[in-house]
Amino acid sequence: MRKWTLASAAVAAVLMCAGLVPALAQKKSPKPDAGAEAAGKVYTLLKDNCYSCHGEPGKKVYGERGQLNYILDHTKLVEKLVNKDKPEDSKLYTECNDGSMPKLVDATGKVRGSKKLPQADIDLLLTWIKAGAPAWPDPNAAPESKLKWKDLALTGPDGRLGFNMAEGPKGSVVLYGGVNLTAMPPSAPKDTWVFSSGKWAKQSPKSSPACAGLSSMAFDSKRGVTVLWGGMNEMQAWLNATWEWNGTTWAQITTKDSPTARRGAALGFDSKRNMMVLFGGNADNADQDDTWQYDGKNWIKLDIKDGPSARAGAAMAFDAVNKQLLLYGGTGNTDTWLFDGKKWTKQDPANSPKATDGCAMASGAEGIVMVGGTTSADIMTAKGVNECWQWNGKTWVALPTGPAARLGAGLAPENKGKAFVCFGGRGDDGNLTDTWTLAEGK
Ligand code: HEC
Repeated sequence: MRKWTLASAAVAAVLMCAGLVPALAQKKSPKPDAGAEAAGKVYTLLKDNCYSCHGEPGKKVYGERGQLNYILDHTKLVEKLVNKDKPEDSKLYTECNDGSMPKLVDATGKVRGSKKLPQADIDLLLTWIKAGAPAWPDPNAAPESKLKWKDLALTGPDGRLGFNMAEGPKGSVVLYGGVNLTAMPPSAPKDTWVFSSGKWAKQSPKSSPACAGLSSMAFDSKRGVTVLWGGMNEMQAWLNATWEWNGTTWAQITTKDSPTARRGAALGFDSKRNMMVLFGGNADNADQDDTWQYDGKNWIKLDIKDGPSARAGAAMAFDAVNKQLLLYGGTGNTDTWLFDGKKWTKQDPANSPKATDGCAMASGAEGIVMVGGTTSADIMTAKGVNECWQWNGKTWVALPTGPAARLGAGLAPENKGKAFVCFGGRGDDGNLTDTWTLAEGK
């Protein structure tokens, strides 16, 4: 019998699937003081009353003097239109105070006449200039999140990589399998753990999946079972079996059709259509780009054009805002896609994480949360990032960081998605066994 080996390909495979980057310096938005507050209002005033003629990209500009396209560029605006020594002489103020600005456009699009701003707005401009015309807060900065990390200081599962963690029946969190390549000899425990009421409990199911790790797992909230698919056994063979966890035991589901055996497929439950959706993964050392769905009885391959490129180790979760499944990253990618059951649509977020692989993802009440991962530059050294992101339906926003840098962590929603549980993964010094919650706190 072939023994579990520490083949480097297997290590790389585990790491790729576990998915992970030098931390972006977390920009803390400063507490707004009076000047910054005025600045924020000035920004809104300029955006609402001036930007349409003085800055909107691609918009036709009016005459040579009207071509000031820097109205929202604080540095340029202050340099050109603000006179800090003599605030009353600032062009920004005088043009508004004498009623020349903002100008009006008529129905044909011609600039015709002007309409003086309310006196309060004109006063605001002068107050702001007199306060030294401070910069306004970055309008793209994330609002301060109410979510806070807490280390539960718990003893639970041993350190491992390539395990799966997802929501389980009755608001629990279930963790399965994974391999410990640093143990002597390397081990694949094939154990099941449940986190509920703030504690981990090892389960004793009557039967367990044959897979050791690198499988895909997601919760079917309609049927109340956690589905596990594919992965790799301890002989390092890829698998394609479907298993379901009902809260007590695992049962293998025999399906007529199935995706080919593979590891690191992305799996997520579309709770609008009540379908388990699988994308890609790695079969026989080739990344796949096919999309499948499972209704609890059988897998069918969907006929899809123009989806994400072939990849393994992508993260997937349901985006409650768009009511679609979201896929992020995998095999060196940092792209974000939405799937509506028929077609994949690539998203164009203003902000995006840098990690590509080994990101842990879960759907929450306020959006999808993603923790850790590694960048394509660091994947072979398995260096993780300590970033945390939230997808708000349009873009990725940075959340506070808590758990140390890691890749291949487990993340699952708790309390109907109002909180999250994060476990383990690989950190700078090896496998981690810490359990954290991310929830609203003071
Ligand atoms: C409907 C279009 C329109 C809007 C809205 C508008 N402007 Fe103008 N702006 C112009 C045009 C056109 C000119 C050129 C003036 C001219 O030729 O008399 C101009 C010129 C200016 C100038 C003079 C630039 C220079 O170098 O002399 C300033 C300052 C200015 N606008 C500020 C503002 C501010 C502040 C607002 C918002 C409160 C605003 N504008 C809103 C069309 C607009």
